[in-house]
Amino acid sequence: MTTTLTIPRPDDWHLHLRDGAMLEGVTRYTARQFARAIVMPNLTPPVTTVDAARAYRERILAAVPEGMDFTPLMTAYLTDNSDPAELVRGHEEGVFTAAKLYPAGATTNSDSGVTDVANIMGALEAMAEAGMPLCVHGEVTSADVDIFDREAVFIERILAPLIDRLPELKVIFEHLTSAEGVQFVTGAGDNVAATITPQHLHINRNAMLVGGMRPHAYCLPVAKREKHRLALRRAATSGSDRFFLGTDSAPHAREAKESACGCAGIFNAPYALESYLAVFDAEGALDKFEGFASRHGPAFYGLPVNEQTITLEKKPCTVPDEIDVGAARLVPFHAGETLEWSLAG
Ligand code: NCD
Ligand code: ZN
Repeated sequence: MTTTLTIPRPDDWHLHLRDGAMLEGVTRYTARQFARAIVMPNLTPPVTTVDAARAYRERILAAVPEGMDFTPLMTAYLTDNSDPAELVRGHEEGVFTAAKLYPAGATTNSDSGVTDVANIMGALEAMAEAGMPLCVHGEVTSADVDIFDREAVFIERILAPLIDRLPELKVIFEHLTSAEGVQFVTGAGDNVAATITPQHLHINRNAMLVGGMRPHAYCLPVAKREKHRLALRRAATSGSDRFFLGTDSAPHAREAKESACGCAGIFNAPYALESYLAVFDAEGALDKFEGFASRHGPAFYGLPVNEQTITLEKKPCTVPDEIDVGAARLVPFHAGETLEWSLAG
């Protein structure tokens, strides 16, 4: 029986670090687990310019505790008015690793997002030409589309036509949550990949709704039926380089989630690797973990694999009920549960 696993330090290809006191409180949890992370730009106001991204990067680096090694990879928040030249300049200057498409109104702080992909076609053409990847929140927002169908409808109405029109654009379908999404990414060209969160591998929609409403299991895109969770587990553990790790760790203060209109987002950064590894172990796919966590992401983004390593050991670790990060009390994913693997050191 395998009891330890040593792999190149993984990266988190989708992360929310927030700003101010929350940023200072949460960054250490990611830096403990990951060498780099693609940092989402959905601040208020969103990160739309090269200068704003540079300044945010400095604030993140200042929040990394002494002695920890962590590199934030910045993203530009696309709006209807995004300037193609600014995006490409940011990419060429090594500030913007990618740009993020939030359909307006799809999720937390997405009010300034894109109202119609036609409005950013110039920006996307410039990105395709510059080899700058596009990270996508893949949900439509129309009131007539059921929230559980919003990802599948996005593929049909927006993503498939976009990829047909710009086949050379590198696209990362973020936080994939559906069997339709898995099928689409698997069948697309090799310039299309997807990240998968730990929660969508562990929970289906029952976790939110059975026995009471459970706000700490609520995130967007929302967890779906069991068949979707199973499709995601098969994709993540398949060894396919189309799928890689992206936690979507999205901290919200406990009281903002335990509310009549609770915020979407799950804070999973503190035990992310332990959480993912539980899935790979249960699926008999420990040998596929290194690709998913450490290799497929860098390969897709054209970045080197990290030279340092980490070791995970089969030793129980109990997730606390709550983590006080100073700025807020946060309820982590798996609160109160015991996971079978621990990050050593
Ligand atoms: C994210 C947040 O809180 O910023 N929330 C979430 O439920 N995932 C936004 C997002 O990635 O959709
Ligand atoms: Zn996110």
